[in-house]
Amino acid sequence: MKGSVPHVLLAVLAWSQQTAGCALDSTEYRSGANIDSIVATNLQARDERTAIVATRSSQKTAIRNIFVFNGHDISGPKTVVMNGDRIGSDAHGARYIDGDGGVLIPGLIDSHVHPMNATELLQLTQHGVTTAFSMACFAPAACQSLQNHPGLVDIRTSTAPAAAAGSTHGNITIAATNDTTLLLSSPEEVPVWMGSQTSWNPDVVKVVAESPGLDEPTLKALALAARQGHKRSVCHAADYKSYRQAVTAGFDMVHHAPLDQPVDKAILNRMFSHRQVSAPTLTMMQAIANRLAPKSYAAANASVGALHAAKIPILAGTDANQLPGVPANVPFGTSLHLELELLVAAGLEPVEALRAATINPARHFGLHDRGTIAPGKRADIVLLGGDPTKNISETKNIKRVWLAGIEYDGTLGI
Ligand SMILES: *[C@@H]1O[C@H](CO)[C@@H](O)[C@H](O)[C@H]1NC(C)=O
Ligand SMILES: *[C@@H]1O[C@H](CO)[C@@H](O)[C@H](O)[C@H]1NC(C)=O
Ligand SMILES: *[C@@H]1O[C@H](CO)[C@@H](O)[C@H](O)[C@H]1NC(C)=O
Ligand SMILES: *[C@@H]1O[C@H](CO)[C@@H](O)[C@H](O)[C@H]1NC(C)=O
Ligand SMILES: *[C@@H]1O[C@H](CO)[C@@H](O)[C@H](O)[C@H]1NC(C)=O
Ligand SMILES: [Zn+2]
Repeated sequence: MKGSVPHVLLAVLAWSQQTAGCALDSTEYRSGANIDSIVATNLQARDERTAIVATRSSQKTAIRNIFVFNGHDISGPKTVVMNGDRIGSDAHGARYIDGDGGVLIPGLIDSHVHPMNATELLQLTQHGVTTAFSMACFAPAACQSLQNHPGLVDIRTSTAPAAAAGSTHGNITIAATNDTTLLLSSPEEVPVWMGSQTSWNPDVVKVVAESPGLDEPTLKALALAARQGHKRSVCHAADYKSYRQAVTAGFDMVHHAPLDQPVDKAILNRMFSHRQVSAPTLTMMQAIANRLAPKSYAAANASVGALHAAKIPILAGTDANQLPGVPANVPFGTSLHLELELLVAAGLEPVEALRAATINPARHFGLHDRGTIAPGKRADIVLLGGDPTKNISETKNIKRVWLAGIEYDGTLGI
């Protein structure tokens, strides 16, 4: 398999500087004034949403005649109670909803997205995504302006992606921000970078392994500094060599999957013994492969099969984005359902794919209030018309969605 991938693919896989550079200029992200206007638009949408939600009653609600996938397995028929923003334990005084024999699942978690505006939050929400991780916050205020929109997907944030000057991602950072202080190139620079990047308290530290890019001592220092700062760390790796570097450096999670050569036993053994986690973003890998070299998707697919067989925890992430200049745009919301189907096609059982979008990300990102349906957890739930533990595509058969107990009242599903 090695050597069969055209050079052009590997170049573009690395999120090509030429295209990303000029196109990102046109996102107007570079100028502070335009970031201010993005932020203002998002904050206005948040105010409008807050006003709408404030008019709703938050009566205790019981959904009866449903089967429940609680994040682990399915049982029922039973009744689930929502009391305020939490799952309750007794239905006394509740209004009843008939679930009509449908299946209730925890709100879906997309472990890798790049939202820019409130329309994209609506798209995630209407497809049952109740939590999503924004994986490259160049401008903290822009990412934060998409947080705390009541009744919409809960957005979690990463740092800016750590990348080296002159690398593909380093060039993207400069194209997007013209801010060289976001780059670094040696272990000695890690403390200052980490201090400034974690000063606004993002949920996770994001790092890029690529070639040319950060060297191994710097990657190791970043993984260690994140751990010492009690932050989970995520490393981007989209080819075999970078994947091996990310795993060796000790990051908690590796996002994407190699398109040149599948992960091998050495990588799998190390990930298993160091309890590392994979978010393969097959949707993005397939979108890139479709555009550039369709056969290369086989390596990503085979990697997921191997990770799964080696019992490496797998998270469902899509890399959803509508950014100009990246190798592929991926729609928000619908893509998570495609990711679940691709995970199943790569060898996961439907119930395991469901865990990849519920209990697994909750556990591995440390969001202990969600990912499962149990008393005291956030009332992030999705009511489906069919059973996704038998047919994963039934996750698209969405009847109702609640986010922290607030029902989404717009158009649902696909
Ligand atoms: C959000 O971004 C999308 C994709 O770039 C765009 O089509 C849409 O109009 C934007 N919505 C708002 C409210 O700015
Ligand atoms: C990054 O940009 C610099 C300056 O334009 C260029 O010399 C370099 O080749 C670029 N790096 C990559 C990996 O494309
Ligand atoms: C980028 O920043 C440098 C200083 O760090 C400045 O000289 C240059 O004009 C800036 N370029 C753009 C396009 O804003
Ligand atoms: C993905 O892997 C599965 C399981 O090994 C296999 O059945 C399927 O044909 C593979 N699909 C692609 C596109 O390589
Ligand atoms: C799986 O569910 C989807 C969506 O409801 C449906 O279109 C498809 O026919 C189902 N497949 C099977 C094999 O039942
Ligand atoms: Zn991404």
